[in-house]
Amino acid sequence: MSNAKQFDVVVIGGGPGGYIAAIRAAQLGFNTACIDEWANAKGGPAPGGTCTNVGCIPSKALLQSSEHYEHAGHGFKEHGIEVSGLSLNLAQLLKRKDGVVKANNDGILYLFKKNKVSFFHGRGTFAGAGEGGYTVNVSGQTTDTLQAKHVIVATGSNARELPGAAFDEKLILSNTGALAIDAVPANLGVIGAGVIGLEMGSVWRRLGAKVTVLEGLPTFLGAVDEQIAKEAQKLFTKQGLSINLGCKIGAITKGENNVTVEYADAKGEAQKATFDKLIVSIGRVPNTNGLGIESVGLKTDERGFIVVDDECRTNLPNVWAVGDVVRGPMLAHKAEEEGVAVAERIAGQHGHVNFNTIPWVIYTSPEIAWVGKTEQALKAEGVAYKAGTFPFMANGRARALGDTNGMVKFLADATTDEILGVHIIGPMASELISEAVVAMEFKASSEDIARICHAHPSLSEATKEAALAVDKRSLNF
Ligand code: FAD
Ligand code: NAI
Repeated sequence: MSNAKQFDVVVIGGGPGGYIAAIRAAQLGFNTACIDEWANAKGGPAPGGTCTNVGCIPSKALLQSSEHYEHAGHGFKEHGIEVSGLSLNLAQLLKRKDGVVKANNDGILYLFKKNKVSFFHGRGTFAGAGEGGYTVNVSGQTTDTLQAKHVIVATGSNARELPGAAFDEKLILSNTGALAIDAVPANLGVIGAGVIGLEMGSVWRRLGAKVTVLEGLPTFLGAVDEQIAKEAQKLFTKQGLSINLGCKIGAITKGENNVTVEYADAKGEAQKATFDKLIVSIGRVPNTNGLGIESVGLKTDERGFIVVDDECRTNLPNVWAVGDVVRGPMLAHKAEEEGVAVAERIAGQHGHVNFNTIPWVIYTSPEIAWVGKTEQALKAEGVAYKAGTFPFMANGRARALGDTNGMVKFLADATTDEILGVHIIGPMASELISEAVVAMEFKASSEDIARICHAHPSLSEATKEAALAVDKRSLNF
């Protein structure tokens, strides 16, 4: 008889994919364990993964604080509020962010207790498979041996390094360092104008840094609807972000207190720029470090992602994988949906994730949010569509807020009027997009939204008006 602790389900990784899968499995009556190795500054457990510790949550805390600072600096004047003696206490701003993170860590530990999920702080490593199921060793902060019929792998992702420019988190920063710079750099370089580059670039620009973004591709935000991306580029440039497209990055050399990037610009001309700090945000790579996948023969693809089918089944019976470590968008809510669906499948239910209605949000100011197809994708696929847009400039609530940049854009099937995509750049786009997600889940037409009563004055009226604009019958524009 083995001394291993027996479980029905062991989840490796306590990020949004893993901790949510563990809670759902426990709710469904399974004896469930979750192993996570993330440690806080004192070495204690800090479940929640990248998202809680160095991703979604701390970045949004910094975005909020830096936006307040910027508003206090210029935005309030228009409202007749004059602030004098404004100063930045960066240490307090970072402390608040750390407090927000800790509240989320503690919240997850509480949820584990409430749902009777056994939490193990340490690294989980596959140690073999046998009649009793899979054996997973826990090492590091705690040492244990667990055994379970089902294992859910949710080990997430890490920031991708540029060759020859390893992260030191002092001069060359991944998301981890970018969220913890302890003095506002005068000159900040960012390689990669993706989601992290724009969000973190916005934070440090608002706090006073001169921010230069170097992007490899010739187009800005290629995955975003072109009309929206164009508007975003115009607004971010006006805010002071220097966005340089089509850059081919060459040597990166570290000095004592700065870092120099050599690159060819869009015209192919050699350039050299020196920064106090350099954020490298060029995408993320799946993380299977120390997981012991070889010991059980868990298959990964050529890019390191664990290979799964549509239902998150790996090549091994009863081993599942969810979140950033598998194909699909690297988003916390996608990881969560997969975690729930897998727990339900283990219980014999029909867990389901609809990849066509996963919303995306970029938390810049204005925010950018979308769901479904872009106009360029519909054109490329030869789908006949109708488009309707409505600018926030014509929305009463946006005017009252003093936040009139941007628009809502609807794309609907030319024949059936079914909504195919909704794209928003503007205030609270992250919240407004939910209406479009619900509508698309229920296969609504643009007319359905156009005929629903929306509160006045509200930003959501812009959504209704964009739906009306699909049939060229906006009322307020
Ligand atoms: P992770 O969150 O990476 O969690 C994996 C966990 O597993 C980690 O705690 C890790 O330590 C642990 N682990 C790994 N291997 C082992 C092992 N062998 N044993 C034990 N534990 C292990 N997404 C959004 O949807 N919205 C956002 O606003 C957003 N903002 C982001 C901002 C930044 C700066 C970054 C970097 C990412 C952001 N993301 C955002 C993406 C989001 O963080 C990820 O998609 C999400 O965290 C993926 O969840 P996951 O559970 O798959 O992995
Ligand atoms: P990203 O994929 O969003 O953007 C990376 C950018 O770097 C791209 O524009 C790419 O063209 C560029 N790039 C790649 N290699 C380059 C090179 N060698 N030189 C110059 N440019 C190069 O990746 P990012 O910003 O690192 O974020 C990773 C992921 O984290 C995102 O894709 C997203 O899934 C998630 N995330 C989500 C957020 C949200 O939902 N709000 C916020 C932050 C991250």
